[in-house]
Amino acid sequence: MPVYPLPAWLSRFVGREKEIAEIQEQISRTRLLTLTGPGGSGKTRLAAKVAAAIAAATAEEEARTGKFRDGVCFVELAAVQKGDLLPQSTLLALGLEETPGQPVSSWLVAHLRLKSILLVLDNCEHLVDACARFANALLGSCPDLHILATSREPLRITGEMIRLVPPLSIPEWQPGSPVEDFLRAEAVQLFADRARLVSPGLEINAGNAPAVMRICRQLDGMPLALELAAARANVLSLEEIAARMAEPARLLVNPDHLAAPRQQTMQAALDWSYVLLEPAEQRLFWQLSVFNGGFPLAAAEAVGAGDGIEPAEILGLLSRLVDKSLVSHQTDDTPAAVSRYRMLEVVRQYGLERLKAAGEELAIRRRHFDWCVELVQQASFTNRERGVWIARIEQELPNLRQAFAWSLAV
Ligand SMILES: Nc1ncnc2c1ncn2[C@@H]1O[C@H](COP(=O)(O)OP(=O)(O)OP(=O)(O)O)[C@@H](O)[C@H]1O
Ligand SMILES: [Mg+2]
Repeated sequence: MPVYPLPAWLSRFVGREKEIAEIQEQISRTRLLTLTGPGGSGKTRLAAKVAAAIAAATAEEEARTGKFRDGVCFVELAAVQKGDLLPQSTLLALGLEETPGQPVSSWLVAHLRLKSILLVLDNCEHLVDACARFANALLGSCPDLHILATSREPLRITGEMIRLVPPLSIPEWQPGSPVEDFLRAEAVQLFADRARLVSPGLEINAGNAPAVMRICRQLDGMPLALELAAARANVLSLEEIAARMAEPARLLVNPDHLAAPRQQTMQAALDWSYVLLEPAEQRLFWQLSVFNGGFPLAAAEAVGAGDGIEPAEILGLLSRLVDKSLVSHQTDDTPAAVSRYRMLEVVRQYGLERLKAAGEELAIRRRHFDWCVELVQQASFTNRERGVWIARIEQELPNLRQAFAWSLAV
């Protein structure tokens, strides 16, 4: 089976055994399966786990089912801004290059037509109509193709099977019951794992279990909310976290009273996490949300420095945002090995709201644009450096496209 790169996380994956097994089984019988749920509920992580399980299927299983003998390919769409770019992004994920003179979509269909492949289309929600058309067209032309999509809303095309990603299991705690049972609940496992990253000696025991149960309940078993709460275990006791979670920060920029309860939970957890930032961290947080598809440190310095903040201070502030789970650090596999930072989509959208509310959007988008222009000007395509620069530019395409679109619109 050909191997396409699957996304990797540094943090531990927790639970979901039943979902993984069921989805793995369903996707071999369903041509389009969409995992839905609010931002931060764990759709991407679950889809990646299913993809990895299928990719790891033994040759024996493959021979038995005959499915996906041509591999599993993960297409990240969060940073793709226009529906027209879906075929191109998929082609890139498949490791193929465009052929001059041939429309990308027909080249893609020609490549996939006789293949038994699973495409994971991750984070479709911002392009839901375009994704629906794209998926429909591909499935119609490629009889052995299957698609696993993640999206906050379904694609709504004929034949789509929809699965709502459930909350992580939330524990029951009765005084006197064994702590081991309590520790088996998925929400507790996730919370405890992330809390131990910042507070290594932390033990969950009969004494603090009631506080952990309240945190898990309050956060509806939402993975990202649990991570944000756990990131504070270095400065707050579990009792304090539980008490603070009980009174949401009530900062909602656009309070949407019709939003589903788990969506409201996520907003409240983000508010909570945001309010606890120092003013300089808050500022950098909203500024960094302009980046689309991640950014290197130099970019954060270019956008975040100014107005009394020196470029040298950015790394310290950025690492505090990483500690608080608002930004993640990614190991880089490009030849230049430059560290890269990223925000989860739901976190980035939240940051953008704060940026607008702060009245800084225009200034920050301009700095983002200037950084992009400078990057392109520096690019050198001499023989020796060509490969490195092509990889650099490819990596920044979502940022470059966004800056370009912005400059045309202002
Ligand atoms: N089962 C799990 N085990 C460990 N961590 C998880 C699990 N599920 C989710 N997470 C973590 O929770 C956070 C949110 O998960 P994820 O990005 O998968 O959510 P999502 O539903 O795809 O959100 P969005 O709609 O914004 O794309 C991530 O940091 C992820 O690593
Ligand atoms: Mg996602």
